[in-house]
Amino acid sequence: MRLLFAVMALTLVLTGCGDPTLSALTPSGPVAESQFWLMKLTFGIMAGVFLVVFILWLYVLVRYRKKSGQTGYPKQVEGNHKLEIIWTVIPFVLLIIMAVPTVTIGFDLEKRYDKAEAMQVNVTAHQFWWEFEYPDLGIHTAQDLYIPTGKKVQFTVTSADVIHAFWIPALGGKIDTNPGDENHIWLQADKPGIYKGKCAELCGAAHALMDFKVVAVDQAKFDEWATKLKTASVTPKTDLAKQGQEVFKKSCIGCHAIGSEGGRLGPNLTDLASRERLAGILPNNAEELHKWLKDPQAMKPGNKMPNLNLPDDQINALVEYLGELKIDYDNGLPKQ
Ligand code: CUA
Repeated sequence: MRLLFAVMALTLVLTGCGDPTLSALTPSGPVAESQFWLMKLTFGIMAGVFLVVFILWLYVLVRYRKKSGQTGYPKQVEGNHKLEIIWTVIPFVLLIIMAVPTVTIGFDLEKRYDKAEAMQVNVTAHQFWWEFEYPDLGIHTAQDLYIPTGKKVQFTVTSADVIHAFWIPALGGKIDTNPGDENHIWLQADKPGIYKGKCAELCGAAHALMDFKVVAVDQAKFDEWATKLKTASVTPKTDLAKQGQEVFKKSCIGCHAIGSEGGRLGPNLTDLASRERLAGILPNNAEELHKWLKDPQAMKPGNKMPNLNLPDDQINALVEYLGELKIDYDNGLPKQ
């Protein structure tokens, strides 16, 4: 029994129940609320079934236990039509009670989505990071997903390699991202806050490290962010940073973009120093960035960034340059 409770407690911890920013049990938007309601309904029914079965089982255990002096087998019963019909009909009815609202809510959510009023975000999942594009705003970014509060956001999701799943537990979801195909989901955050996102489909060695972060701010703050990101300066300030930019142009630009220049195989780095985490998981500071550039595979196994075997002085210059890529913006939310 003690072991059972330990396992249950561990499960709760592992499923992130302790963290409201990563929990479907603290819904923070209309989609998550509908889904939470369905969860409560299903859980209630399941708990009811469990209780009835458990009580019947206990009753049979006590009532028909072997009494002292009793020998031989008790009377054997084979088949009981009435009982069999009852225990077929009850689950059928319970399934209907769960199925009707599940389907209705699905259609209802679809109906509540209106393309004209929603903001569009294209999501591309990569091993093991997230690319976010705002087609109407001409913005390209990675890892930190900014959205305005109180507004529907339509996500068009796809994948650059294998199947991943886009999931922001506190806002709703999840939805698979499939290579060569597009899926759609709309979500909305009711109030400003940080909500954590996860990849929810086993996708390779660093699947568990494929985190991202949603930053929900009011519309004015969001517009400010969008403008600042779009007009971010990427000109190096110090001499060391200038050297860093040279290294970047030689070794990194094929995969990474800064500003409007560069490839799209790796995350866009325009505001790298403004992100709270590196690669979605590491504290964002010079030391960790240095470690990452030295050996990316050690930090996030299986990711697509090769070890460039850069000498330390080039890494230092790169760290300096990337450290300058900061936009002058404060989301006003408590740091995580
Ligand atoms: Cu991507 Cu799991």
